[in-house]
Amino acid sequence: MRPASSRSNIAPFLAMEMAREASRLQAEGHDIVRFDVGQPAHGAPQVALDAVRDALSARSFPYSEALGAMAVRRKLSDWYKHIHGLDIDPRRIALTTGASGAFTLAFLALFGDGERVALAAPGYPPYRHILTALGMRAVAVDAELQARLQLTPQDVEDAARAGPLAGVIVASPANPTGTLLSREDLAALAQACRARGCAFISDEIYHGLTYEQAAVTALAVDDEAIVINSFSKYWAMTGWRIGWLIMPERLIGAVERLAQNLTVCPPSPSQAAALAALDAQAECDARRDAYGVNRARLMDALPEMGLSIAAPPDGAFYMLVDISAHSRDSLDFCARALREAGVALTTGVDFDERRGRSWVRLAYARDTEETQRGIARLRQWILR
Ligand SMILES: Cc1ncc(COP(=O)(O)O)c(C=O)c1O
Repeated sequence: MRPASSRSNIAPFLAMEMAREASRLQAEGHDIVRFDVGQPAHGAPQVALDAVRDALSARSFPYSEALGAMAVRRKLSDWYKHIHGLDIDPRRIALTTGASGAFTLAFLALFGDGERVALAAPGYPPYRHILTALGMRAVAVDAELQARLQLTPQDVEDAARAGPLAGVIVASPANPTGTLLSREDLAALAQACRARGCAFISDEIYHGLTYEQAAVTALAVDDEAIVINSFSKYWAMTGWRIGWLIMPERLIGAVERLAQNLTVCPPSPSQAAALAALDAQAECDARRDAYGVNRARLMDALPEMGLSIAAPPDGAFYMLVDISAHSRDSLDFCARALREAGVALTTGVDFDERRGRSWVRLAYARDTEETQRGIARLRQWILR
């Protein structure tokens, strides 16, 4: 019998495994506060649900164009005009099966076998794992605390000195830290990539979820940047599996051929929902403001428990917390927090193989009452 291929031999996504364990305990009747999952507790905006309900009566969700329905791509183009003041040709926008689908398309369109792609540690684990499964090389660079755990142009230069780079991936706001890249940071990174002829990929999935300053899109500083985004987070549509990719014109053909063959098209009901969700800014902003209350409460409470916040959490709904005053092993810390305090956290090991044992990630896209309960449980458990 044939064994699984070597390309499938990638690390598991530990956050998903923790989520499974927390869900299992909940199904057994345990009361668990979910600071682990990176998904909003509330679902899709009401207008999106209504639009799909209406569309269901038509009973017909045929394939769309491989890159998605032009009506949605046009409305996304309008969104960029509205939010960022940018004119983006809708043909440069591809709808995808979540941001995850956009990674696969972008990586395949841009990188060949064994090509090196730099990314920050700590960072979102599937970047590394998808690149590895596709036969490309993820070059994880230890990001510095003084750079708020984001890549710098110097990091790009150092990684390029060790071997030619085909691409650089950044995320702003980032998972797991929530830190932002400023316009100047983005411009300097884009310039460093241009100078080396490598692709600049900006994961902007947490745009819309910032608390003090708005996030800047990489397209504002570099029209050649590859931007990836999704309806999963700001629009709270995780399971709908709908995201998008913005690419330079010269890549449209390659991405379209890949999309035709890999997925035929993104899910049609979700495209109908996405079209309507773009009208839900007030609802999504109100949710973001509620997460802001949770963020403020956690930022006050955690340091008092000896849990310092590793980097300023400007956005997303995460903070990376240093647990070294209490434990040397975040895997064990998370297992005990779940068992003894009924609080689910995510180990930092997922995001940074080298330093992650000192960190846990807290996700706070919950309602404020649950957040408050989680804080009280952690306080009682840690200061017992
Ligand atoms: C930084 C980042 N990018 C991409 C994704 C995947 O998003 P999607 O649900 O759109 O595939 C996530 C999910 O948590 C994420 O944190």
